[in-house]
Amino acid sequence: MNHPVNRTLLRENKLGHAFAERLKTFREESVPRKKVLFVTPEYTGLIKAGGLGDVSAALPRALSHQHDVRILIPGYRGILQKNFPLRIVARLEGLANIPPCKVAQLHLDDGPIIYVLICPELYDREGSPYGGPEGQEWEDNHIRFARLGLAAADLALGKGHLGWRPDIVHSNDWPSALAPAYMALRNQPTPSVFTIHNLAFQGLFNPESGSDIGLPAQVFNTEEMEFFGKLSFLKAGLVYSNSITTVSENYAREITRPEYGCGLHGLLQQKFAQGQLQGIINGIDDSWEPSTDPYLVESFSPRQWEAKRANTRYVENRFNLAANDGPMFAVVSRLAPQKGVDLTLGIADSLIHAGGRLAVMGTGDHALENALVKLAKRYPKQVGVHIGFNEIESRRFFAGSDFLLMPSRFEPCGLSQMYAQRFGSLPIATSTGGLADTIEDGLNGFLFHEMTLSSYNQAIQRALNVYEHPDLLNAMRCHAMNSPKYWCESVRPYHQLYQQVLNKKYSIRTPHFISGGIRQCR
Ligand code: ADP
Ligand code: GLC
Repeated sequence: MNHPVNRTLLRENKLGHAFAERLKTFREESVPRKKVLFVTPEYTGLIKAGGLGDVSAALPRALSHQHDVRILIPGYRGILQKNFPLRIVARLEGLANIPPCKVAQLHLDDGPIIYVLICPELYDREGSPYGGPEGQEWEDNHIRFARLGLAAADLALGKGHLGWRPDIVHSNDWPSALAPAYMALRNQPTPSVFTIHNLAFQGLFNPESGSDIGLPAQVFNTEEMEFFGKLSFLKAGLVYSNSITTVSENYAREITRPEYGCGLHGLLQQKFAQGQLQGIINGIDDSWEPSTDPYLVESFSPRQWEAKRANTRYVENRFNLAANDGPMFAVVSRLAPQKGVDLTLGIADSLIHAGGRLAVMGTGDHALENALVKLAKRYPKQVGVHIGFNEIESRRFFAGSDFLLMPSRFEPCGLSQMYAQRFGSLPIATSTGGLADTIEDGLNGFLFHEMTLSSYNQAIQRALNVYEHPDLLNAMRCHAMNSPKYWCESVRPYHQLYQQVLNKKYSIRTPHFISGGIRQCR
């Protein structure tokens, strides 16, 4: 029951009496202990492409104070190369062109048990979880991630003689969305929860791919897995799971509208109206604690601004920027259209002419990478750009900056703005998705409402004005540092959801129920 951060926070009285009371009440509540299989394509500490990895590592850990949560993840090369002790604990059969695989058990420190799918022909490759080193997606991604979903469904059926069978299967984003599909198609009784971290990634494949992964031809219709002529893994997750969550309340509402629904708003509207779609805001992991973070140049608490400043000096030196008292802006981001980095390029000149400096860390879109590098060449003393990602340095960027720029076009939740807040850097962000749910304009960050350069510039101007008034700036920093919630404080809605899906009796969920396995597609 003891949670490391709770001890730290309570000892140092960071969040005060009210927090301690809330935590006590929460601990005293009795939630029946259930077995949960958390299925994910990323896990920070093993492999990560963005925030999904962070959530997959932190949420199960917080949940495991009440439940027996275990992770299921593909055995990518990046994981195998870490030479962790892996013990084979189960063997699973293949289906159609999905090869058989082994399941290895991994136990890291005090975290939950991790089941790693060993299937070298699918996962032992150079690159990210989703594609090769040049960024191209793997052509057999439908098989790679159907393997993940099928393994989850099989373990829920007790196949493979693992000796552990989940009460609930909780999958995340399209790569694990076939778990609820296989479970529903075989009419398995185990309830499934599906979390949308990003609706823009859908896992769309040619309809013929269905036969590779053993799907019955009948699922290819607009009520089930067809999405504008493609086979959609994401839609399978939405259609076949018993309950859908997404990572903020605001995004849950937004995705029921055409502007944010990525073509799925109709289905999501229906799910929302039926009470089968809800938003649960992400928390942050307890390692985001500036007073104890071993990776900071100097650790600090609210009001220890000189120590925070030492991290700014680090960022200046890192890029050989002008050392002055002007504000330091940071971007720590995937370089994708979602993140609005093009807008930041659009306001960069005025930001620098106003005396600001800019430190960027990110990878992704090559055109954006090149434009950022060009900007740094134009302003060598004001702009530093690191193309790549490094967890330790990212912490120093958050700690060393005064403001984090996050003009996202959409943002399901966003973790970076919360990491920045925790480290006393005020986010300047679009009022969308989880950004609007976590940033209080003018109190712990700045929001702007229109995706235009002028709206963005006005928000930056407001931030610069605050920077001119140290009392105000420091008050906002203090508020920001106490704003983000740790997972231990925000996990309760998941307990309630698990209880709900377990209490419900689900009838046959698909008209395509096939006894004794799944029929071939074509
Ligand atoms: P998203 O998941 O959409 O990228 P979040 O704000 O939820 O956005 O999470 C971002 C997480 O990913 C943070 O931990 C951040 O430090 C990290 N991150 C940022 N850029 C990259 C990158 N290029 N590669 C991997 N992780 C990154
Ligand atoms: C996605 C979203 C991001 C969210 C993260 C974790 O990558 O883009 O907004 O914070 O998942 O849920």
